[in-house]
Amino acid sequence: MHEWLENKKVVAIIDTFFGDSGKGKIIDYLASLTSNNKPLFPYVYRPNGGPNTGHTIEVNNKKYIFHLIPSAALIKEIKCFIGKAVTFEPRTFFEELEIISKANPDVKIYIDQDTHVIMPWHTALDNLREITNSKTKIGTTGRGVGPCMETKCSRKGFVTVGMLNNEEELKIRINEAAIKLNPELKDLKERFNENKELLIQYKSFDHYLNTIKLPTGITLSKFFIDGEIDVDFTLREYKDYGKKLENLIVNVIPFLRSELNNNKRILVEGTQGVFLDMQHGTYPYVTAGLTTRAGLEHHAGIFFDLVINVVKAYGTRVGNGPFTTEILDLELSKKLRDSGNEYGSTTGRPRRVGWLDLDALKLAFELNMREDEIPLIALTKLDVLEGFEPQIISKEGSVIFDKLESINGIKSLEDLPKNSKTYVKYIEEQTNSKIVLIGNGASREQIITEYNKVIAY
Ligand code: IMP
Repeated sequence: MHEWLENKKVVAIIDTFFGDSGKGKIIDYLASLTSNNKPLFPYVYRPNGGPNTGHTIEVNNKKYIFHLIPSAALIKEIKCFIGKAVTFEPRTFFEELEIISKANPDVKIYIDQDTHVIMPWHTALDNLREITNSKTKIGTTGRGVGPCMETKCSRKGFVTVGMLNNEEELKIRINEAAIKLNPELKDLKERFNENKELLIQYKSFDHYLNTIKLPTGITLSKFFIDGEIDVDFTLREYKDYGKKLENLIVNVIPFLRSELNNNKRILVEGTQGVFLDMQHGTYPYVTAGLTTRAGLEHHAGIFFDLVINVVKAYGTRVGNGPFTTEILDLELSKKLRDSGNEYGSTTGRPRRVGWLDLDALKLAFELNMREDEIPLIALTKLDVLEGFEPQIISKEGSVIFDKLESINGIKSLEDLPKNSKTYVKYIEEQTNSKIVLIGNGASREQIITEYNKVIAY
């Protein structure tokens, strides 16, 4: 076992920037570790995020993208949990479950009884607000996460997964939502119809709703009549989801606590990244939840013994908002984007790309680490920088490194070629951190894991 995992019962994986750092692969690697032929982490817990996130992993040359289900669900004998701060979109869940069940028929996945559900109007509002407000656009993923969290925070949070099964209550809540939200939907429809460009692009409001597909082949328009919420159709559909989910609903936190008392370990899958945190991120260009260590601990309801900070070897950001180290040279940015396949796994949008921001990384460690902890890093996608002269940028200026070499097949730090070694050591020295894992390719095996054997800490 890795020395840095010894005696660490709750280990959390957290992205230090704007998400999309390759966390899925790191989680998959850690989840595949064993002790006495049993998973080292029998439980993988996803406390936050929603269908806006996308974790990509590659196993046996097959690529999987998960939005809602923890990426470790493919590994036999691991139980996965979706926590109560997740915004849960049933159709995304069912679609992923079907894919996973084919690869791992014994998949074990449970959802917290208090998890809030994304309803069709959340998705409609998210998209309509963005498309009709070009000046104040956030660049959301359009998956309804923000509006669902608004409903939750208004304490009118009307649907938890458990409630889907309670027809009477569900009907009351859907009716309440219709009374509250139909006026806003009407207003957005009017704004849509006043916008000539949108009308040329989409022909009509209804046609626009028809273009927004929900997973498993239904379009958003099915849930609306003349732009208003179709209460009966929604009730029928969601009641059905409630039935299908019935046996998967549990009270997650007490269960995991009791397993910790039984000396079991938990791997916590953080989503998005520190600077998308609603409190500490680049507000208003943030997601609608908490993504730093403290936020994730709060969402999880358990404290972490170890945080692994996922740092991508260069920067990316999808959506709007500040990105001070962005590469503005179109040719160079395209080259890096294509080299790292930096296209959104949820939306397919091209990601903005840039160099590593040292000041932001230091701030992320301040937010994620206690004073007595040395930040541990999983450095991802180092192989993407092959052939580039990468930069690390801080307010003191920019350090340009010599062209990075191929690191294909390399398994240990000693074997890292000179320029790549200089690059990773610079990150460690400047941030007083330790790199414990380095990603050098998409699949589970393409990982450098022996770095810590060389440097004592
Ligand atoms: P929302 O979470 O869909 O409301 O989007 C708010 C912002 O967070 C947008 O800039 C999104 O692109 C960004 N965002 C949300 N989830 C992720 C993620 O998993 N990776 C990267 N960016 C994300």
